[in-house]
Amino acid sequence: MPVITTIDDLKQMHRRRAPKMFFDYCESGSWTEQTFRENTSDFDKLRLRQRIAVDMSDRTLRSTMIGQDVTMPVALAPVGMTGMQCADGEIKAARAARDFGVPYTLSTMSICSIEDVARATKAPFWFQLYVMRDAEFVDNIIRRAKHAGCDALVLTLDLQLLGQRHKDLRNGLSAPPKLTPRTVLNLATKWRWGLEMLQTKNRSFGNIVGHARSASDMSSLSSWTAEQFEPKLDWDMVARLKEKWGGRLILKGILDPEDAVRAADLGCDAIVVSNHGGRQLDGALSAIRMLPAIVAAVGDRVEVLMDSGIRSGQDILKARALGAHGVMIGRAYIYGLGAMGQAGVTKALQILYKEMDLTMALCGKRDVADVDRDILLIPKDFSGDWQ
Ligand SMILES: Cc1cc2nc3c(=O)[nH]c(=O)nc-3n(C[C@H](O)[C@H](O)[C@H](O)COP(=O)(O)O)c2cc1C
Repeated sequence: MPVITTIDDLKQMHRRRAPKMFFDYCESGSWTEQTFRENTSDFDKLRLRQRIAVDMSDRTLRSTMIGQDVTMPVALAPVGMTGMQCADGEIKAARAARDFGVPYTLSTMSICSIEDVARATKAPFWFQLYVMRDAEFVDNIIRRAKHAGCDALVLTLDLQLLGQRHKDLRNGLSAPPKLTPRTVLNLATKWRWGLEMLQTKNRSFGNIVGHARSASDMSSLSSWTAEQFEPKLDWDMVARLKEKWGGRLILKGILDPEDAVRAADLGCDAIVVSNHGGRQLDGALSAIRMLPAIVAAVGDRVEVLMDSGIRSGQDILKARALGAHGVMIGRAYIYGLGAMGQAGVTKALQILYKEMDLTMALCGKRDVADVDRDILLIPKDFSGDWQ
């Protein structure tokens, strides 16, 4: 067993263990992948201030997210087809999050259903909604999420149309995988993945199949999305969904200060500054670059979370220093899941925790609540003069 000390170690193991089609699905951005790359490289441009002779004992990363106590201000982001990275992936990730004391978000496009996850974890989680054209399906899934005790609705607003990801098209991404000669050859080398998959009933989109019209053949995610996702989704519809849900609401996929102000006006509980991990509008600026302008625009009217590009505890502190109250992680935990199932997600959370704790101390802070702009050195052109 190799020694695992970084998120990148988990990624390499994930690459070896999961079928190529699903690893590529995770490790891709849209079109040229410029935004995907910059989400991580922009974090590297920010530097930390080393401080000395500060009492670094009794440190804490404990915080809250939308009023919930958390071990550290990190939530697991919604990730479609998590249950294809390893069998029952959503259940394993949700259990790891529950045991660690951070929120888990289940995607509409999950393999395990809301009910499967609720039954297996016996703990509340957040549910992420994609708005579909089928209004009855949307009403129903909101009802199902309430019934399962989900304590927040994460409404994703940056995917009315699916960003084109070349790798998925070339690989013929589907769940379960279509057995072409190429996939069969690749699956033959992934025996651990295959054995576990044979032992679960969850191999297609659990929230959708049997619940939505025309969902009998979801084999091509891209064509299904094109047919089913609601392109008319606008702020009026968001307001109506807020009423319908009636609970805590997080709006995800905000990358522009004007949209952030609209979201705050609507009275949501939090926004997630995000470009969907570089999977939607290629050419958009990285989320970490857009964060300061959004924080300045909304002030403390709404809790600001961010995601896209977080691969280390240092990145989380940098986001916090630029005004994010907390973050979501996507690939960082999916690598862990693909590498080692539930234990891998726990490992990812432990790595991030340790990196955050040590870095915070070496920056001269003892409480994550005190981490602010003071810990950063920012190059003059970072926020830039984009017109
Ligand atoms: C494989 C994959 C699938 C995703 N599926 C969803 C989804 O179903 N719903 C959603 O709101 N966001 C989805 N996202 C976006 C994540 O919630 C999150 O915004 C993104 O992963 C953050 O970037 P990071 O992976 O660099 O941390 C997905 C991301 C990945 C990598």
